[in-house]
Amino acid sequence: MPTSHRFQSLAQREINRETFVEPWPEAGLIVADGPNDPPPSLRLANGQVVELDGRARADFDALDLFIAAHGLDLTSAEQAMALPSLAFARKLVDLDTPRAEILRLAAGCTPAKLVDIVRQMSVLEMMMALAKMRARRMPANQAHVTNKREHPALLAADAAEAALRGFAEIETTVGVARYAPFNALAILVGSQTGRGGVLTQCSVEESLGLQLAMLGLTTYAETLSVYGTEGAFVDGDDTPWSKAFLGAAYASRGVKVRFTSGTGSEALMGHAEGCSMLYLEARCLAVTRGAGSQGVQNGSISCIALPESLPGGVRAVLAENLLAAMLGLEVASGNDALASHSAIRKTAKLMLQFIPGTDFIFSGYSAVPKRDNLFGGGNFDADDFDDYSVLQRDMQIDGGTRPITEAQALAIREQAARAIQAIYAELGFPPITDAEIAAAVTAHGSEDMPARDVVSDLAAANRFLRGQQTILAVVGALQRRGFTEVAANLLEMGRQRVAGDYLQPAAIFDAGFRVRSAINDPNDYTGPGTGYRLGGQRWESVQALPQVKSPRDFIADQVGAPLATLAEVGPAAVGSAPEVVVAVGPAFGVELTRTINGLNHEDVLAALLTGIAGEGLIGRVIKVYQSSDCAAIGQIGAWLSGSGIAVGLQSRGTTIIHQKGLPRLNNLELFPQSPSLTLETYQAIGRNAARYALGRVTTPVPVQVDNWARLKLIVKTTLLHRRETEMVRPLPPMELRFDWEPDL
Ligand code: 5AD
Ligand code: CA
Repeated sequence: MPTSHRFQSLAQREINRETFVEPWPEAGLIVADGPNDPPPSLRLANGQVVELDGRARADFDALDLFIAAHGLDLTSAEQAMALPSLAFARKLVDLDTPRAEILRLAAGCTPAKLVDIVRQMSVLEMMMALAKMRARRMPANQAHVTNKREHPALLAADAAEAALRGFAEIETTVGVARYAPFNALAILVGSQTGRGGVLTQCSVEESLGLQLAMLGLTTYAETLSVYGTEGAFVDGDDTPWSKAFLGAAYASRGVKVRFTSGTGSEALMGHAEGCSMLYLEARCLAVTRGAGSQGVQNGSISCIALPESLPGGVRAVLAENLLAAMLGLEVASGNDALASHSAIRKTAKLMLQFIPGTDFIFSGYSAVPKRDNLFGGGNFDADDFDDYSVLQRDMQIDGGTRPITEAQALAIREQAARAIQAIYAELGFPPITDAEIAAAVTAHGSEDMPARDVVSDLAAANRFLRGQQTILAVVGALQRRGFTEVAANLLEMGRQRVAGDYLQPAAIFDAGFRVRSAINDPNDYTGPGTGYRLGGQRWESVQALPQVKSPRDFIADQVGAPLATLAEVGPAAVGSAPEVVVAVGPAFGVELTRTINGLNHEDVLAALLTGIAGEGLIGRVIKVYQSSDCAAIGQIGAWLSGSGIAVGLQSRGTTIIHQKGLPRLNNLELFPQSPSLTLETYQAIGRNAARYALGRVTTPVPVQVDNWARLKLIVKTTLLHRRETEMVRPLPPMELRFDWEPDL
């Protein structure tokens, strides 16, 4: 078989570094319709569930028992189960069916029923439904902040920057588990420097996680993992009841809790039991709701590459987000783990959550460079900050972040790094030097940071964890060192834990520590004109990319002093000599004096006339006033030309060779890409025009094609053309006298 160069090139593309497999249902490698997925069913007797999704009570496993006891609202169950799945799916996209009605019915659905409903829906329909079913009115975002060196000043600086960029929650984790208290402390202090009210967590082993929360070092917990089969649960020494107990332990200390589940985990752990990913996830969600968790982190999370290897995988991940929202859970909708090599694919996947908006569009946007991300690399990371800002600006969508300037970043990073330095000094931790502060302020990642003494850091972290000090010691330290505002924010986070308002579903803190949750700010989307819209001050801030320029400044460099060498003589007559007319646009040489790529109009004219003279002809220069259109300028020139040949030249440099008698939009040669025209090209254009006039055999002037030029210069082109068009006047073409040196 011969080798196709195209296929060879395609093989090198990022997308072809991914793994794609056929479904293998028995191994759980299928997103829906697994061989052991039961049909939906529910039978009640004496107020007790006696059959759940095809299984009699006597055969229930632990999850069935838990779901039957806690995961179903039996008051709506009969109505919900009797409603055909297709009718239910249609209600989801029906804008006249409010969220509350769906919540009521979905609460009575068994896991198999839930799957049967979303199976009916296209990705677009699921997005519509998700926009309606999201818990909180306003979408938000979560960041991941970690670094390979586990450097406290860098963690604090990155957390502060992430907070300033608008993330409502920040999560860290550890490379070495013993760093946990220090990493939690660093992002807590950093986040409260960036913006008071950002929630923070440290993802570690569950009892350590609880301990950190009790010390006040974290304000939410997210990785209470649940799984869709008993086998997977048992593998982790857990049961639905133990997870419920852990969730309650957090809540009792005023710490917000969100469970974690997601397609693929059971297959990955070898316990799929021949069921599909989506069915098992529906079981997880029923358990999560039954355990009293206010929300869930799902969307496959760490397993995302597995559903993405299968047909319909990305659709299934959206479906699981939607299922969670239907159950009234706050959803942190994934997009956290690295899922694709391809920028196209990862962005396309993101759109399914980004466009409808979820409570947390990312379960962790990596606010650090990929190599510093200890969660295994983010799907979007710090290097994508500007892309992400532009996506929000393009679509007028609130993605939960806003652009900031370099100066703002540097300032907030310095404050945060100084704050953690002060705490280390006050509490007797291994000192953070000024050199480390300076590095953390400007660092992109941990490779910019000096190494620390790992052994003494770990020892100090351990002493802190085992000691008597809590977050109040940190508040005191900050206060003593003059970090009053950060101290006040930390204290307020502590106070909020006592108040507990942010334990409400989907709660985050707004500016000024105001809770926004599904209770006081519920999603009320019911179609156009309703629900959350990005507008007002927030829309202003999303628009204000630091890269944005004022278009008014764009053509300043295209305007110099009017050409002294060019003078208007009077109305131009129709010629009879064997000449070439060079017809220029209305702003030429006066209001505009340089082409788009900065060539002086004088030099361009001289080059054209030199080319014409080289063939022994005269070039006559004429200004066209009645049009700014390149083709019209060329056509008018040709009418006036003794030979019938003219070069039409717009002020921005676009050029045409026209012949009398040709229709306006037909021509001998067209040079639409003014940015790639050089003086040599203009001379060659002049020469060719003269050769046409003389009836000589002529090869078209070769031009460089730069497909990026339009992208780069379209605003400038627009403004140059606008200026030229402003100078259009109802005047006849005018003869110009041009004083030039022919020996160019
Ligand atoms: N199901 C359950 N838990 C998950 N986690 C990540 N992905 C999943 C999933 N699909 C949890 C694990 C992991 C943490 C980052 O999140 O506990 O350690
Ligand atoms: Ca997360």
